[in-house]
Amino acid sequence: MSAPHLEVAEAPTTPGTELGSPATGVAVPGTAGPPAGRAYAVARLEDVPLGEGRAFVAGGVQVAVFRLRDGSVHATQAACPHAGGPLADGQTDPDVLVCPLHLYGFRWSDGSSTGGVGRVRVYPVREVDGMLVVDV
Ligand code: FES
Repeated sequence: MSAPHLEVAEAPTTPGTELGSPATGVAVPGTAGPPAGRAYAVARLEDVPLGEGRAFVAGGVQVAVFRLRDGSVHATQAACPHAGGPLADGQTDPDVLVCPLHLYGFRWSDGSSTGGVGRVRVYPVREVDGMLVVDV
């Protein structure tokens, strides 16, 4: 009996989730490019649905980028400092990101925990010409 045929996915389901993917290190429109400012266009705005987060790699750094329903955008480290949970899958409100694994919260303002489990790194993020640009 032969082994079942398995196919390997050729591309990540979320742009920029693998190091070296096309969304990594794209020059910011209107600037000289990422090396000088360490600014990376990680995705198109529509790649992150309103009210959700997605994980990307910016300059070799894994980041979670969020679009809140109030129109704001936020970026944090991708892994939770508590036990490595996928912060991009967390729940959000205007003030706090909640990790999906153990439900600790982290403030957008400075990354501090609402439950005393450390701090997430918060990265500056903005929209530039329809692209989400993260400074790492
Ligand atoms: S891994 Fe995030 S709260 Fe535990």
